Amino acid sequence: MNAIVQGGIAPATDGDVIMDAAQPYLRIRNLWKAFGDFVALKDINLDVASGEFVCFLGPSGCGKTTLLRTIAGLDPQSRGAIHQGGTDISSLPTSKRDYGIVFQSYALFPNLTVRRNIAFGLENTGRPKPEIAARVSELLDLVGLPEQAEKYPANLSGGQQQRIALARAIAINPGLLLLDEPLSALDAKVRVHLRHEIKELQRKLGVTTIMVTHDQEEALSMADRIVVMNHGVIEQVGSPTDIYRHPASLFVADFIGETNKIETRLNDGHVQLGDVTLKTGAAGIRDGSDVTVAIRPEDILPHPAGEAGADNLLPVTITDMEFLGSFWRTHLRSNALAGVPLVANFSMNAMRRLALETGTDLSVELPAERVLAFVRGA
Ligand SMILES: Nc1ncnc2c1ncn2[C@@H]1O[C@H](COP(=O)(O)OP(=O)(O)O)[C@@H](O)[C@H]1O
Ligand SMILES: [Mg+2]
Repeated sequence: MNAIVQGGIAPATDGDVIMDAAQPYLRIRNLWKAFGDFVALKDINLDVASGEFVCFLGPSGCGKTTLLRTIAGLDPQSRGAIHQGGTDISSLPTSKRDYGIVFQSYALFPNLTVRRNIAFGLENTGRPKPEIAARVSELLDLVGLPEQAEKYPANLSGGQQQRIALARAIAINPGLLLLDEPLSALDAKVRVHLRHEIKELQRKLGVTTIMVTHDQEEALSMADRIVVMNHGVIEQVGSPTDIYRHPASLFVADFIGETNKIETRLNDGHVQLGDVTLKTGAAGIRDGSDVTVAIRPEDILPHPAGEAGADNLLPVTITDMEFLGSFWRTHLRSNALAGVPLVANFSMNAMRRLALETGTDLSVELPAERVLAFVRGA
């Protein structure tokens, strides 16, 4: 039976087709980058699918820009290989690579009009003038600035300049769009607005895109997949919900979103906090390991004091609370936690239903599957 099944899927042609479909557009293998003695990228491995929107996310100095620049050939890697569209581009000069790039600083040519800025790359390709003019108009429409063609960059707002930089980057239909913190220099409202515009444009064009950001909200709201980096290594790659709900390390849990952390010891999937035994979602951690248990404020559920029935209940007292519009952020103290404060976000409905205020005693439920455990010093 087995032999027949295997024989059925074995033909080489089928295999080839499957291989092609599974081929990533960008493939990075064992990539290292050193600046003198300092190693900025350590053994980076990453595949990006065609048409995907990927964000490199991590704290300042973790290597995001360096990785983007090695992909562009602006900072050649010290070791390792990069394939784009099935071609080894590892040693291609930047001018021979197929990408458009936008930097944080708008980097437009100040002495050229918007039209000439966008046309710049097209002129270098030697296309006929009418074709270039038509393409520039099309790009101006695409980024929503058809009226601004004859202005100079200094006469545009930051958001408008970044739209022009975007138009310039996609003018020659690059295979890869690289964005290095394109929104960080803009004020909050423009930033949020442009997030949507860039995402929409990327979807419309279907261009494979990598955006560097240190802003988790930006990454969560824009990316198909997030690459979380720290100290030159990739900590985790996953969809925004994956990374948020199932962080692979305490660093990821801590960097993305907010999390309560309790240092304790794990036994048989349980931790002992004072006289309270909590079941955790931990799997595959050795008995007796020192762990940091992590739970997000929104995963903590309020119950009336002394309630029985639910598992994983912890008696607490509200020591402080802040109204944050759509929810209340409460600070909780528990004898079981030996002074470690707990932060929980409760809905307005829950606050009203349980008549919660500063000083109220209640029980909080820490659902086992949301109590994550990470081995300390691992
Ligand atoms: N040209 C360079 N020479 C020396 N060190 C550099 C150079 N470029 C970047 N670095 C260092 O590499 C690390 C990663 O930098 P970078 O990729 O710019 O970080 P990020 O973009 O994540 O903030 C930092 O410690 C930075 O100081
Ligand atoms: Mg950077």
